[in-house]
Amino acid sequence: MSDHLNIVEHPLVQHKLTLMRETGTSTAVFRQLLREISLLLAYEVTRGLPMMTRSIETPLERMDAPVLAGKKLALVSILRAGNGLLDGILELIPSARVGFVGLYRDEETLQPVQYYFKVPTELEDRLVIAVDPMLATGNSSAAAIDLLKEAGATNIRFLCLLAAPEGVARMKEAHPDVPIVTAALDSHLNEKGYIVPGLGDAGDRMFGTK
Ligand code: URA
Repeated sequence: MSDHLNIVEHPLVQHKLTLMRETGTSTAVFRQLLREISLLLAYEVTRGLPMMTRSIETPLERMDAPVLAGKKLALVSILRAGNGLLDGILELIPSARVGFVGLYRDEETLQPVQYYFKVPTELEDRLVIAVDPMLATGNSSAAAIDLLKEAGATNIRFLCLLAAPEGVARMKEAHPDVPIVTAALDSHLNEKGYIVPGLGDAGDRMFGTK
């Protein structure tokens, strides 16, 4: 994966995203759509993974068949909304190792502060896919990637559902080596830091909170 920003323009992704954006979509339907769309996004974010061959026996003959090479990949959810994307991806990659990064924004400094960090061992040998549905200012995403790099990760991809230009720019400045895969690049952030037109608060919509 070489481009810094990859927008998944597949018709199924775009259709499901439109349904998710709509105000009238219920929590149950939003969750189901998120699960479905995360499978499709997982397909894109894992493009180009290194492969090797294994000698196998089919009912007809022996062949050298392609399988994934290297250590199991690591999925890292940026709490709490990242968990919504994580569930679907784990269905597609059940053997992935899973980590969590929790950050909150300090009211005075406005800087992200870490409250939870638990990641798989040997991060340096794994492809690490960090997931967070909304790339808004990019501050918490960039901080989460900083922590993953401090923990040894060198090969990181970032997966989100929606991105704002501000967040993409922030990530490109802080982590030009981390490609971003998203279903859409929206117009801008509003004064409260929401992505416009967006879909509202992703955590609230998937968990039914307010
Ligand atoms: N986080 C969200 O959940 N929604 C936004 O629009 C921005 C950040």
